[in-house]
Amino acid sequence: MGVHRVVCPGSFDPVTNGHVDIIRRAALLHEEVIVAVGANLAKRGMFTVEERVAMLREVTRDLPNVKVDTFRGLLVDFCREHGISAIVKGLRAVSDFEYEMEMAQMNYRLADVETLFMTANPLYSFLRSSRVREIAEYGGNIKSLVPDVVEKRLLEKLSRPEDPSRSGEH
Ligand code: PNS
Repeated sequence: MGVHRVVCPGSFDPVTNGHVDIIRRAALLHEEVIVAVGANLAKRGMFTVEERVAMLREVTRDLPNVKVDTFRGLLVDFCREHGISAIVKGLRAVSDFEYEMEMAQMNYRLADVETLFMTANPLYSFLRSSRVREIAEYGGNIKSLVPDVVEKRLLEKLSRPEDPSRSGEH
């Protein structure tokens, strides 16, 4: 059995150009890519799960074999329910490796689900969502770091600091 349907899981709070790069490259290699937003800890984030999904759908609109979904609980259960045989993860640097390898080994142990690692484009190897949020929060320029729609939504959100969906943010 080959790897036909894969999942790109993450928090995507918000989706960055680094995520989009991995999703696009995964879509060239696999028949179907499901981008899955983890909802377990989403309440603590900046964007609601629905907002994250909407941004992901917009930035992957031109990729017919990419679908966006959410999951709660264990990723391997989501994989089992959706006939997914492999998880695709991007590795930015060696510092990502230990954490990702542990998760990959545990996911294999739990349910024989494989993890495929893709090396991040060096253009984006310094990029993470929390850094983008922080830069935006202090008025920095995030134009080259996130898709246009994300920049727009971030600036909108920050201009409304009373927004209740940001209450648990850290
Ligand atoms: O973007 P992130 O925060 O690095 O994404 C992490 C995520 C959501 C992929 C990871 O935390 C996850 O898979 N969570 C689901 C819970 C789970 O399956 N835990 C066991 C992992 S071995």
